[in-house]
Amino acid sequence: MLDKLGFRKTKATDQFNIEDNLEIPSHVAIIMDGNGRWAKNKNLPRVAGHHEGMKVVKKIVREADRLGIEILTLYAFSTENWKRPKDEVDFLMKLPGQFLTSYLKELIEKNVQVRVMGDESRLPEHTRAAVNQAKEQTANNTGLILNFALNYGSRHELTMAMRTLAAEVQIGELKPEEIDESKISGALLSHAYPDPDLLIRTSGELRLSNFMLWQLAYTELIFTDVYWPDFSESHLQQAIQHYNRRSRRFGGV
Ligand code: IPE
Ligand code: IPE
Ligand code: MG
Repeated sequence: MLDKLGFRKTKATDQFNIEDNLEIPSHVAIIMDGNGRWAKNKNLPRVAGHHEGMKVVKKIVREADRLGIEILTLYAFSTENWKRPKDEVDFLMKLPGQFLTSYLKELIEKNVQVRVMGDESRLPEHTRAAVNQAKEQTANNTGLILNFALNYGSRHELTMAMRTLAAEVQIGELKPEEIDESKISGALLSHAYPDPDLLIRTSGELRLSNFMLWQLAYTELIFTDVYWPDFSESHLQQAIQHYNRRSRRFGGV
């Protein structure tokens, strides 16, 4: 059953009074965390959690598209995640290929634009090939931007941005006093997108883990204890309901 806003009535959403004119945040970013603990609780290997997590990505992309979110940024692999055991890293690096093999057709049909944000040079060739194919085949789409943060680290991104600006200063293309906030935003990997309106982190951890440190300056933050493989459409809806109760002041009154 759908309510006025097209929200499917679920047990979880019934706990909330859905306002008539709910604002859908344009840019939603998610730190998809808790796959390993989800698997451990079930006596499964950690990678089983990653596999389940991939299925949840599909569900949440569909729901984000249905709700009219414009940009969905998903933290899939951090610059620090290389520290994990090789088997786990290898498994994670195969997920983009698996995900896209089974899902690219639907993404194309849904007019979704696949993008990647991160240091792609360090990704294995097969991972790069899979994401490049998805980017190319969805390049002319105009719908939801599905932006995977893959081998992404905010400090690395900022470091690279500073190098870019410094090089422009060095060759005389830019004066130091011309470096302003928009120049810095423009030198980041996220330069084409507005800052996230809403950040969701699953799994109960209350930290950013090197994710979009510059861009999250005024983002509404929502932390949930739910592990990513258990995250569902109704959790996303609840997060948007919470977002609607926040008063975003951006330093004003
Ligand atoms: C998130 O789940 C997926 C990645 C970081 C790639 P984790 O693998 O971090 O799961 P936990 O935090 O160990 O439970
Ligand atoms: C953040 O999760 C990275 C991703 C979700 C891809 P982590 O599990 O790597 O973060 P920490 O280590 O708990 O801070
Ligand atoms: Mg984790």
